[in-house]
Amino acid sequence: MSSQWVFFDLDGTLTQSEEGIWNCARYAAEKMGFPAPTEEALRKWIGPPLIWSFRNLMGMTETQARQAQEFYRERYTTIGKYENRVYPGIRNLLRTLRQSGVQMGVVTGKPEGPTRDILNHFGLLKFFERIACATDGHAEKDRLIRSVAPEGEAEIWMVGDRKFDIEGGIQAGTHTLGVTWGYGSEEELRTAGAERIAHTAREAAEILCPGAEVPKGAFLSMEGLDGSGKSTQIEKLTNKLEQYGFEVVHSREPGGTPIGEKIREILLDRNNAEMTDITEALLYAAGRAQHVREKIRPTVAEGKVLLCDRFLDSSVAYQGGGRQLGVDRVLAINEPAVDGMLPLATVYLDLDHRASLQRRSAASELDRLEMEQEAFHARVEEGYHALIARNPERYVVVDARGDRDEIAKTIAGAVLERLMANEE
Ligand code: TYD
Repeated sequence: MSSQWVFFDLDGTLTQSEEGIWNCARYAAEKMGFPAPTEEALRKWIGPPLIWSFRNLMGMTETQARQAQEFYRERYTTIGKYENRVYPGIRNLLRTLRQSGVQMGVVTGKPEGPTRDILNHFGLLKFFERIACATDGHAEKDRLIRSVAPEGEAEIWMVGDRKFDIEGGIQAGTHTLGVTWGYGSEEELRTAGAERIAHTAREAAEILCPGAEVPKGAFLSMEGLDGSGKSTQIEKLTNKLEQYGFEVVHSREPGGTPIGEKIREILLDRNNAEMTDITEALLYAAGRAQHVREKIRPTVAEGKVLLCDRFLDSSVAYQGGGRQLGVDRVLAINEPAVDGMLPLATVYLDLDHRASLQRRSAASELDRLEMEQEAFHARVEEGYHALIARNPERYVVVDARGDRDEIAKTIAGAVLERLMANEE
């Protein structure tokens, strides 16, 4: 069987770089005392060499353009290159190909330094065996492709979003796949002679590797006392993971499925005051059994990241600790529900039960009922800490009292590390 190689263009194919490019162009214009470029003018910046753009799109002289390029690079090398996003589904495309034994490379008009930095920053470098870069903003794609194409028998594909990628591939004698999520239109790609067209990363996988199985995604949960800021952090984590090209699906407990939402109504209904503790624990577990089978497991099987607001640990802390049913009893009840589907990582937003109470009620002094609530929440907090002590490797514990953005940064760093290790 002959080997298969797939070469990808970077900008517009693997990553979306306009935010960084635009911010650097604006920065250079400002430094040079030129008017800020309009959104429409900026659109034309992606693709052509910088000097050309400064001269033709901003009307600079050759000397001014060289100076502007210096300013551009000053910002680009420190900040701009990371103002970048991995397109949705790219990670799964690369994982699918790698799993099928396809070898991969990157062919780009960018210089080697930023190319490697960007791929490394997003944890994509590990997928590529060969990288061909333009030395000074200027190199013909076909020559770059030839410089990394394997010798001898091999099925080789060039994948890109612009006509330069397709024309380069054709000239270098490779198969060509045009992708429409980048900067070129389908018409541009077809006119250039693209052999195949893909509108999504999934379609690209199907074309390059028909019938290949999608690698598993991951299951994450977010836990904490009421008022610990879970919703905010779920949103911030989702944005970060999406920037890295993970496909994120949200869910929550109690709930997550139509049956689970009905169970949620029963559980949270204030009129159900006569509900016994064991009934409560069994209902949470019942909803969970449905959730694992109907939503969590299928989503992970599709290669996505399922991020769940509360899961098993809430039962251990609230019913096991708060209601005093005991950790082991609650775990036993939940075993058939969870069916081995434990989160790859659980973020715990660590908030003292008193602070949790204060965040929920602004009262400075607690009445008798609130005192009881306080004892309940103290046990919930204890329950969480007992769980974390039992299996510390599953948890990402963060102090919930810090600055929201700092908390988000810590969470993203730890979660990304685990998700990337999970891709190996
Ligand atoms: P919800 O309104 O979703 O609160 P939050 O925004 O704090 O998540 O209600 C969920 C409540 O259910 C919350 O107080 C914790 C509790 N709970 C349990 O007691 N056991 C469980 O297994 C789960 C999942 C939640």
